Amino acid sequence: MMKLTDKFGRVHDYVRISLIDKCNLNCIYCNPSNSLVRYEANSSILSYEELYRLISIFVKDLGVKKIRFTGGEPLIRKDVIKFFEMIYPLKKQYGFEIGITTNGAQLTDKIESLKSLGVDKLNISLDTLNSRKFIAITGKDLFYRTVTAIEKAVALNFKAVKVNMVVVKNINDEELTDFVEYFKSYPVELRFIEYMPFTGNQWDDSKFLSWKEMKARIEEKFVLNEIESDGKVSKDFLVEGENLKLGFISSISDHFCDSCNRLRITATGKIKNCLFANPSELSLKSLLSGESTSDETIINFILNSLNSKRMKHPGANELTKLNQNNMMSIGG
Ligand code: 5AD
Repeated sequence: MMKLTDKFGRVHDYVRISLIDKCNLNCIYCNPSNSLVRYEANSSILSYEELYRLISIFVKDLGVKKIRFTGGEPLIRKDVIKFFEMIYPLKKQYGFEIGITTNGAQLTDKIESLKSLGVDKLNISLDTLNSRKFIAITGKDLFYRTVTAIEKAVALNFKAVKVNMVVVKNINDEELTDFVEYFKSYPVELRFIEYMPFTGNQWDDSKFLSWKEMKARIEEKFVLNEIESDGKVSKDFLVEGENLKLGFISSISDHFCDSCNRLRITATGKIKNCLFANPSELSLKSLLSGESTSDETIINFILNSLNSKRMKHPGANELTKLNQNNMMSIGG
C-alpha cells in the first residue's frame, strides 16, 4: 500500500478533519471577538458524502490508521450522528481509530451513540474548574455541562479520554495543581497545552507559560515521573502515588516537528500540512464531488500538498504574523 511519506521521510498515518468551522463557544485564546473569523457558507464545506469518499481513500489506499474529527466544534454540525453511522462500516472494514476533539458542551446526549458507532477516543477541552471563570474564558455558562460530559465519557470506557487545558498566564495558570488534584481519581489523561498564536487570538509573550514552567508549578505539590510518550507529541508523566497520567504539549517552546505524522483537512476541504501552515489554495471539494474524478487524481492532490510540507514550523513571533491561520478552521 502507498504511504503518505513527505520529503523528510515522515510517514503520515494520522489525519485530522474539521467537520465545521463554527463553534458554540468563544474562547479567549481561539476566537475571542468572533468577528475575526470569516465563516464559510454551509454549501462550501465538505458534505458527508464527500467526507466519506475522502476517508475511504485515506484508510483504503494511503495507510491512514487514525482519524480525528475537530471543528470549530464538530458535534454542532447538523445530523452529525448520521455521519458517524455512514463511516462505521468503513471503520469495521479497515480498523482505523476514530477520535473526536470537542468542548463537551453538546456531548452528553450524543455520547452513547458515538461510543456504539466506533468512536475510540475523546479529547475534551476544559480550561478552568471555576464555573464563573468558565464564562469569562468561553463566553458561555456551560461549565457543568462540560464536566458532566467528562464524567459520562469516563463511565462509558472509551479507549482514552483526555482533558485538554490551554494554559494562559494570569487567566488559569493558578489552577494547574487544582486540575491534578481534581482529576487524580479519574481514569483520564490531562493535557496541558502551551498557548499558541493564531490569527486574531491576541497572543503575546506575557500570556505565555512554557511547558517547563507548568511542570515546575505542578511539582510544587506533586512528584512527576517521566514516562515514554507515544508519538512524542506530548511530554508525558505519571503523578507519583496516583494513577493519573499527564502530558504537556510544547508546540511553542519545544516543537516536535521531527515526529509529525499528521495531515489536516479544513471543513472546506483544504489541506493544511501543518497546524501552522496556511491552507492549500485549492480545495478537495470539487474533486470529491466530481463523480468522474478518479481516486488517483485525489491521491495526487494530497501527495502534492504533502510534498510542500516544511521541516518545521516557524517560531512564535513569526506565527503571530500569519494572516489566515485560525483554530476555527482547523480545531487543533
Ligand atoms: N493555543 C493552544 N491551544 C488551543 N486550542 C485552541 N486554541 C488554542 C491556542 N491558541 C485548543 C483547544 C482544544 C484543542 C483542539 O486546541 O482548547 O483543546
